[in-house]
Amino acid sequence: MSTEQKTAFDLIGRRYDESFVERDAQLGEGAWLLGQLGRPARVLDLGCGSGLPTAKQLLDAGVEVVGTDESAVMLELAETQAPGGQYLHRDLRDLADLGEFDAAVAFFSLIMLPKADIPPLLRGVRELLRGPRLLQIAMVLGDFDRFPISFLGVPTEVCAYPPDELRQVVEDAGFETMELREVAAEAEPNRIEVQIYLRARAV
Ligand SMILES: C[S@@+](CC[C@H](N)C(=O)[O-])C[C@H]1O[C@@H](n2cnc3c(N)ncnc32)[C@H](O)[C@@H]1O
Repeated sequence: MSTEQKTAFDLIGRRYDESFVERDAQLGEGAWLLGQLGRPARVLDLGCGSGLPTAKQLLDAGVEVVGTDESAVMLELAETQAPGGQYLHRDLRDLADLGEFDAAVAFFSLIMLPKADIPPLLRGVRELLRGPRLLQIAMVLGDFDRFPISFLGVPTEVCAYPPDELRQVVEDAGFETMELREVAAEAEPNRIEVQIYLRARAV
């Protein structure tokens, strides 16, 4: 990707945090993760975005965070809003030279990929895990692939799985599901969406 080329989230930028109304479920996932991790601990935040809420939550609790994102604008926000993380401007499918992690999280970032790219990515993530070897994913409920949408006025494409299919994709990549739950949340003012939160452990 050329560094000059603007991504959807370069255009969305700060409006993402301003529009995302309800992050309670995601913060709950972060709290659960913190309870699972010893210290020191190292977490990979795939598609970390602006660092809110997850990178900041983990950093504040003394966890080392490596965040990857293709949007330079989101990474600038992360540097400011969640200082102390190591933020890498790269495609989240690029797992080269990242080192090892106790856990990897992908909150609402895999939805931006074509479905075909998700199984090899998850298998790659599994190889980076050590210790508790945890994986957390948040998606939006649905059943589509490369589906064109307008998000905050910016055109992009998203994918979504029915819950059982997401579970299967994760398990086929070498994980066991610990929990999968659906949560209705206000993602933008007056827009309720059903989100899926999955916790898994590499086997
Ligand atoms: C919906 S936001 C989620 C951000 C953050 N994880 C959160 O919980 O708020 C999706 C993020 O994924 C990033 N992203 C989308 N496709 C990507 C890709 N192929 N490689 C790296 N980052 C990507 C976007 O730039 C954006 O920051």
